Parts: sequence; structure tokens; C-alpha cells
Amino acid sequence: MCGIIGYIGEREAQPILLNGLKRLEYRGYDSSGMALLISKKNKISIRKTSGKISALEHLLRKKPLAGMLGIAHSRWATHGIPNQTNAHPHLDCKGEIALVHNGINENFEPLKEGLIKEGHEFRSQTDTEVIIHLIEKLYNNTSLEEAVRKALKLLRGSFAIAVVSTREPDKLIGARLGSPLIVGLGKNENFLASDAPAILEFTKDILFLGENEMAILTKDSCRITDLDGKELNKHPTRISWDIEQAEKQGYKHFMLKEINEQPGITENLVNLFVDKRTNKISFKEQDIPEEKLKSIKNIAVVACGTAYHAGLVGKYILESVSAVPTIVDVSSEFRYRDLLFDQDTLVIAVSQSGETADTLAGVREAKKRGAKVLSICNVLGSTLTRESDGVIYTHAGPEIGVASTKAYTAQLIDFYLLAFYLAGAREVLPQQKIDKYLVELRKIAKVQEEVLKEQEKIAKLARRHSHFGSFLFLGRNINYPSALEGALKLKEISYIPAEGYAAGEMKHGPIALIDEYRAVVCITPASKVYEKMISNIQEIHSRRANIIAIATEGDSTIKELTREVIYIPKVNEFFSPLVVALPLQLLAYHIALKRGCNVDQPRNLAKSVTVE
Ligand code: AGP
Repeated sequence: MCGIIGYIGEREAQPILLNGLKRLEYRGYDSSGMALLISKKNKISIRKTSGKISALEHLLRKKPLAGMLGIAHSRWATHGIPNQTNAHPHLDCKGEIALVHNGINENFEPLKEGLIKEGHEFRSQTDTEVIIHLIEKLYNNTSLEEAVRKALKLLRGSFAIAVVSTREPDKLIGARLGSPLIVGLGKNENFLASDAPAILEFTKDILFLGENEMAILTKDSCRITDLDGKELNKHPTRISWDIEQAEKQGYKHFMLKEINEQPGITENLVNLFVDKRTNKISFKEQDIPEEKLKSIKNIAVVACGTAYHAGLVGKYILESVSAVPTIVDVSSEFRYRDLLFDQDTLVIAVSQSGETADTLAGVREAKKRGAKVLSICNVLGSTLTRESDGVIYTHAGPEIGVASTKAYTAQLIDFYLLAFYLAGAREVLPQQKIDKYLVELRKIAKVQEEVLKEQEKIAKLARRHSHFGSFLFLGRNINYPSALEGALKLKEISYIPAEGYAAGEMKHGPIALIDEYRAVVCITPASKVYEKMISNIQEIHSRRANIIAIATEGDSTIKELTREVIYIPKVNEFFSPLVVALPLQLLAYHIALKRGCNVDQPRNLAKSVTVE
């Protein structure tokens, strides 16, 4: 998704904006640009280009911009192809106002028609350009701030914008209506950005703009108003991540770094939420009263992509431990179906970014029906966390790789802990039983570490299979969602068609796919469904497909069926999704690497999907 950064202060803006764009690269983009207000000439200068930020950097090296107020943007095309003309910033007719936009302007066509009739000259095919011409039209005997407000009221869709004007060269204006935008507060300088990594090097004091809020920044002041101009009293949050956490730290890719961070995250999360001495589970930001949670009759999980798969594992966990009937929906379906929810439903929204448009829309629908919303989220202060009644953070640190890895296992940990918490509160499990579960859960970080020690073996196995044209992933019971997640990881970063299936469904269709050209990943740890998985593997074996098994150390049966086995240490089957996820992620990573794919920024994908 598009990335925005804006700067006003006493330093040269170009390097700050360029650096910010690089930090936002993880969001996915196809072109970029920058506009600076050249104060001596009181003029706006622009550099734009298609392709990577390095292309913009190259352009700026040849034709640098000088100035201390500016905006920059990385674009992920929605309207108009990714080229230089369609790249942001966009200018008004007179070249006095520049604007960048993240989101979609849904009613741009009728507005554009009207503006053209009035004589406005459009240069791009974007929906964004309408906004700048509207501001231009309304910027008459009034302030920029007022013109922006009036323009935004005429628009439909989702927006985060940043605007500068030569007529008010001491102002940087930002507004948010549905797409994320934050304000960074510095000393004699202030920032706007789509996400914190863009500005963390310069300030850790962040103000999260809410829906329909505007920031009016000068170098030494920050005013927040609503769209009627009413001043709002908001306080900054001090971010505890440092930029190091968002860097690669010597790993070849963010994804590999993030895979390797999982044991540490698992250990920290359990230590953070579970008292070592008493085993009491408490979540700091979980504000839904225990009395309320005791009385819920059902749970509905809403999420997209990997977070949805975490929700599917969550269903197994919640139903077996807390005995609460649980349904799981992808957000894009959830938001449009007839939801039979009421005050007795707890909606759990799962999202790494907390900005996923469909998930937010689902949450809003559920709230309309009186349900309480608890979110499982990684990004502090994100829209989802602000709109939820309670939050359980995943504390995984910034996840930069587009393919979600560490956020997934952290979401699973949150589900386990929530289930134990609910089981205790609702008195469906005795504390002794919960204590036993926690003993097992505390072992998982070490087991994950053991799996990561075998990375080179997994990499070799992956390379041996990187030529296969299609993959099938099979699992059963609590590892059925693991199969879905394994397939998603592989397809999104290697572009190999991959399907995840419940192994028991094999005979109902997918078995027709099996032949010697197929690679089939069978998730087969020791479990109550082990024998069933072995029967499936035998069927696949006799059809000569290439089987990759993920099995428990010491499993001799599996060796007779395939030589390609990734062994994992023995682990309680209930927690096995936390372990099998790692070899699945590594398999996808090394296959994609071997095929020369851009692992961290796969084609067509964005890290956070802020439009429908
Ligand atoms: C996973 O690897 C993805 N790239 C994608 O499916 C992601 O999980 C999905 O878009 C949801 O994002 P969220 O967790 O930020 O809501």
C-alpha cells in the first residue's frame, strides 16, 4: 500500500524524506516521488519516477531538491498504471499546492467531470488528482487548512493525505479518513508518516491520528482538529521499538530475520502475560470486564490471510480449552453476510497491522450489532486497537517482510493464553490442568530453537524441490490450518501454485491431482490423527508423488514412505502448530530464494491492505 512521509523543520528535507520512503518499502509500491517547497523561490519542485525507491534516489542525486518542508510518497497503483505521471505528489493547475494520498477516492469520476468543466487541467489518470484540484478550487479567501477540510467533506472512500502550499510555506497538513497516518513530534521539526518506521530515527513521540482528524503542523507546533475545525486534545505515545528492530540485523532478508525471531517472541509473550510464580494470566490492554467474558455464548473470529489461518487454529484451541463455540470468517465475507450476533457474542479480530480495511469493516459491522470486540494485533495504536473494546498485543516487533511469519506464531500464542484465561474465568478447566498446559507451552520456545538449528538441512531440501510446478499441503485437526498457512506462504513468495487441504478431504477431490510431478507436503507430527495421516501418505506414495513430511524425531514409519523428512522435536500435539509453522516458513523462503524471487516484497502484494 502507498506510503506517505512529510517533514517540516530546520533540516534539509530531502534525505529525511528519502530515508522515510526506504523505511516504508515493506508496504509494497510501484513508483515514488517527492515535492519540496523551495523557500527562496517560493516554488514547489517535484521529482517522480516509476520503479524502486533507488530510481528516485538516483534521480535526486542528479537533480537534488533543497528545502525544509516537503512531502514524499511511494505509490501502489489502483487507478492509472504505475508510471511517472501517475506517481505522487500531484500539483494543482498553478503548481502552488502539492499533495500525496494513500487510499481510494470512490467518487472521483463525477467530481473530475465537474472540475474539468470548470477549467481544471488534469495530467494523470489517478483518483488522487481530483483531491488537489478540489482543494485548489476551495482555497479562496481562506486558509489551506480550511480548504482541505472542505474538500475532504466532498470525497467518498478512504484517505490519508499530506498537503503543502506555497501560499502558506510554514505549514504541513495531514488528514486521515480511513487510511493510517501518524504525526511524529520532534524538536523544531515535525513529521507525518503512514507508519512509525519511517520516522523512528528522528523521533519516538508519536501521535496517532484518528478517523476524520487533521494535523496542522509548523516546525514548532502541532494542532489536531476534527473535520469541522474543532481542536482536539491528543497526547503522543512514546514508541519503545528502536530502528534496529526494524532492520535486517545481518540476515539476507527481513523474512529470514523474522522467522528466526520466533523463539524469542514466544518466550517473551508467555513471560509477559503469565505470572511465573502463580501462573495467573493477565493482558494489560484487555479491557473487556471478566464478568462480560464469563457470560459470552459464542465467539466469532474475523481476519484475513495469515491472520485468518491463526484464527482457524484459534477455533480448535478455544473450543477444546474454553468450551466456547467459535466460528471463523475471512473479513471480506464476514462484513457482507447477515451476522446473527448480539451482546453475547465476542468478536475476535486478528490482524498484524491493525489497518486491514476488510477486518476493520467487519469489526464495525459486529459493533453495530452490539457485540464486544477483542483484537489480537501487533501494531500499537493502530486503528483496530483503537476501535476494539479490548486488545491483546502480539508484541512481535515490526514485521517488515510482506509474508507474515513471526506475527502468525505470536497470534497463536495469544490464542492459547486467551483460551486458558477464559477457561479459568469460566471455570471450565481446573487450574491444575491449566498449569499443566502452561508447562508444555513454556517448552515451545526451546523446541522452536531446535527446529531453527536445522535450517541448513531444510534449505537443502527446499532447493531440491524448487523446480516443482505445484504443491499440495495436507494436515489434519489442529494442523489443518497449518497446511493452509504453509500453502499461502509458498504461493505468495515463490509464485508456485500451492493448495492447502484437510488431509481427510483428499478422496473428495485433490487425489486427482496426485502424480509424479506433484510435491505434497504432509504435516505429520505425533498426534491422535497420526495413523490417519499415514494412510493418506500411503495413498500419495502409491501414486508416485514427491512427499515431504514434517514428522516427529524418531518416527521410523515415515522413513519407509519418503526420504524427504523434516524432523521436529517431540511436542504436545496441542501446541504443534507453533512448531510446524517454522519448517513451513523456511521451506517457502528457500524455494522462493532458489527461484530468484523478491522474498520480502513479492509482486502484487502489499504488507498492509488498507483498501477493500
Ligand atoms: C500473509 O503472509 C500476508 N501477506 C497476508 O495474507 C496478511 O496476513 C493479510 O493481508 C492480513 O494482514 P493483517 O494481519 O495486517 O490484517
